[in-house]
Amino acid sequence: MEARKVKTEHPFTMFEYLVPRAPDAIIALMQQCKADTNPDKIDLGVGVYKDASGETSILRAVKKAEKQLWETETTKSYVGIRGNDDFRHSMLHLILGGEAGKIDDALMNRIASSQAAGGSGALRLGAEIIKSAAPDATVWVSTPTWANHIPLISAAGLKMEKYPYYNRETLGVDFDDMLSHLERKAKPGDVVLLHGCCHNPSGADLDPAQWDRLADFLAAQELTPYVDLAYFGLGRGMAEDSYGLRKVVEVCPETIIAASCSKNFALYKERVGLIAIVCKDDTTAAIARSQLGATQRKIISMPPDHGAKLVADILGDAELRAMWVEELTEMRERMRDLRRQLSEALDVQGGAVIAAAVKNQNGMFSTLPLSVDQARKLRSDYSIYMTDSGRINIAGANNENIPRLADAILAVL
Ligand code: LMR
Repeated sequence: MEARKVKTEHPFTMFEYLVPRAPDAIIALMQQCKADTNPDKIDLGVGVYKDASGETSILRAVKKAEKQLWETETTKSYVGIRGNDDFRHSMLHLILGGEAGKIDDALMNRIASSQAAGGSGALRLGAEIIKSAAPDATVWVSTPTWANHIPLISAAGLKMEKYPYYNRETLGVDFDDMLSHLERKAKPGDVVLLHGCCHNPSGADLDPAQWDRLADFLAAQELTPYVDLAYFGLGRGMAEDSYGLRKVVEVCPETIIAASCSKNFALYKERVGLIAIVCKDDTTAAIARSQLGATQRKIISMPPDHGAKLVADILGDAELRAMWVEELTEMRERMRDLRRQLSEALDVQGGAVIAAAVKNQNGMFSTLPLSVDQARKLRSDYSIYMTDSGRINIAGANNENIPRLADAILAVL
């Protein structure tokens, strides 16, 4: 920590004492890619879905809901401290309801939820609530994890530690190491942050049998799951992508959920998120609701409404919902197809492990076994943008550039 300089002149001004801060790796990469004038650059950086023409379009269901909203909305007055009730309830039915798309009242009554400013706002609200309930709890995150998890959660004043997860040689999950590490190091009352699906940055998810074991393990060790569900629907399918979340909710007495609508509704800049705290009973849930309201109030007061209202309208209307499911399926299948194509192009001498991983991993991301120098060489020599850790966003590729991408990866390897 830099020593604070002592100011002697008057009048007193303060901002020259700020220390300049570098943007985080993902934001820096976005800026670097934007500045590259090469028309053939390939942007595999920030986690934003792009269609075959490279556009991040507004979904048709969103456009339609927006039109209806424009025609019928009569006020921009505040909605409420925990946001739009229809949004919260339809989201809970969606992510916890499985095939049926519906949860029962007994579970609903055990949940305290609040709309949040995006998945990040939800993660932060969740962290604040953990800090209020259990200030000495440590939050455990996977190695690696999303670049912003540690800054976001530790900003609430919580201690954080890492558990092993992604093996950069096998490109799979070191599941036994994960469990044995947590068993040895985590204490009852600690919190384990899990990626519900489409692990960011690795793309390597737990399979259903591993989720079953993990849920039993967490319950036995008295550890609380904190599930970040930022890519629901973009991995294998809606029921598949919520399997792990539903399992821990079923088995553990308490679960914290941070869900985002940035990617699956393509509502990035509207900042639509949900924090949900599944409590052991209704009485505890009522207390948690009051805490969520008070915490939201002291951070941002009222949550933004526009995007959440669109999600509520889409999920609450059969035609709009069907349209959204179709578009979500299109995005998911396109990414699976790109994975297949890239995998085929990489499946040459020396590339077999990467090829298999790219094909089988889920969602937007895979982390390739590249060194920092190799990732940087791809940027400087080929205008191919991925993080220094080798994370690629597959949605940034397309049918035309995949052969060039695969050749470049194989060349730097
Ligand atoms: C990502 O991981 O690239 C996305 O979640 C976007 C972000 O804010 O980092």
